[in-house]
Parts: sequence; C-alpha cells; structure tokens
Amino acid sequence: MNDHVIRPIRADEWEKVRDLRIEALKDPAAPIAFLETVAQAESRDDAFWKDRAEGAATGPVVRQFVAEDPEGDWVGSVTVLVERAGAEDLLEGEITHDQGHLVGVYVRPEHRGTGLTEALFAAALDWCWGLAEPRLERVRLFVHEDNGRAQAFYQRAGFAFAGTVVPVPGGDGAMELELSVPRPE
Ligand SMILES: CC(C)(COP(=O)(O)OP(=O)(O)OC[C@H]1O[C@@H](n2cnc3c(N)ncnc32)[C@H](O)[C@@H]1OP(=O)(O)O)[C@@H](O)C(=O)NCCC(=O)NCCS
Repeated sequence: MNDHVIRPIRADEWEKVRDLRIEALKDPAAPIAFLETVAQAESRDDAFWKDRAEGAATGPVVRQFVAEDPEGDWVGSVTVLVERAGAEDLLEGEITHDQGHLVGVYVRPEHRGTGLTEALFAAALDWCWGLAEPRLERVRLFVHEDNGRAQAFYQRAGFAFAGTVVPVPGGDGAMELELSVPRPE
C-alpha cells in the first residue's frame, strides 16, 4: 500500500475514469454494489466521460479520489458528492443534512484487505471535513443489505446505521441501508 498514491483525478483522465468504472461493473460483487450495468456504462459516449471527469476533478460538488500504483495504474476509487439540505434526493426524497455522499466505492480484488481502502476513505473524508462552504455535518453512503464485506469495512471505518432503509431502485425488493459518520469535533 505504501507505494500507492491517493489523489483526486485530473480533468483530462476521462479514459481512466471510464475504464475503472467498467472494470468495477464487471466485478462479481457489482450487482450488490452499483446501480449501473456494464452495458449502460459501455453505451455512454466520450463526451459523457469527459464531463464526468471534469466535474469530479474541478467541480465544487464532486471529487473522485483514486489509488494509483507506481506504474500509473488505478487500483481503487471513491467519489464524494456534496449534498445540500433541502435538495431532492433520488433515493429517499429530501436531503436532510449538508453532507458528503460516498459513491462508486471500488478496490481491485488483489488490493482488498491491504489498507488501501482505508487510505482512500481517509482522503475522501479529509476532503469533506476540510470544505469551508458548506461545512458538512456528516458523510453518508448506501450499502446493499447483502454486501457483508462492504458493510464490515464501513463499520470499521466508523460508519454506523443512520436509520434509513430504501428499496434498491429497480430491484427485486432488496434494500439499501444508509450508513453515516458524523463530523469529528
Ligand atoms: C467494499 C470494498 C471497497 C471494501 O474494501 P476491502 O479492502 O475489501 O475491505 P477490508 O478487507 O479492509 O474489510 C472488509 C471486512 O469484511 C470482512 N469480510 C470479508 N468478506 C466478507 C463477507 N463475505 N461478509 C462479511 N464480511 C466479510 C473482512 O474480513 C474485513 O473484516 P474486518 O474489518 O474485521 O477486518 C471492496 O471489498 C470492494 O471493492 N468490493 C467490491 C465493490 C463493492 O462492494 N463496493 C461497495 C459498494 S457500497
């Protein structure tokens, strides 16, 4: 892990953003980890990925962090969405806090359990707590009820059940659990 760099993406790295996303969607855990299919991601044009990378590199409300190995390969990623209280939320109605929302959490299988996921989360949370405006009250995420490995990691990282349970959009009755970690004092 020590030879990996954790950093935000740059705006011109859209091809790597695309390739890592499609790789994540091919992971055996993808059906309980992500709300998108390989076919959907592969159908998006270059402009979509360029926009996504630009927004996640320089925009005020999205930041994508990646773990990069010494050869320059990306082996893990987490994206922060900054959400404002009162805004509309596709999953649960109205957003209730100024908060960070972590999405797109993925680490290559050979790097799981190595501390790399902790390093990615530390970078994402540091960025959240460092934002001056809005000052974020908490960071949250949603995890599928059957994704035991992700749940175990999130709990070790300080996330606890936040009380909200929502059906997986387009799912078969399965549920997503909201977990959150409060702003440190
Ligand atoms: C989720 C993910 C980022 C977690 O990172 P990780 O490096 O694997 O996490 P760690 O190995 O450090 O921690 C996972 C914990 O789950 C435990 N675990 C492993 N398999 C498990 C399983 N099937 N059920 C429950 N717990 C499991 C591990 O022993 C470890 O426990 P510990 O905290 O007591 O040590 C990574 O597994 C991943 O990319 N998974 C595929 C994509 C995904 O599910 N993303 C999350 C979407 S919400």
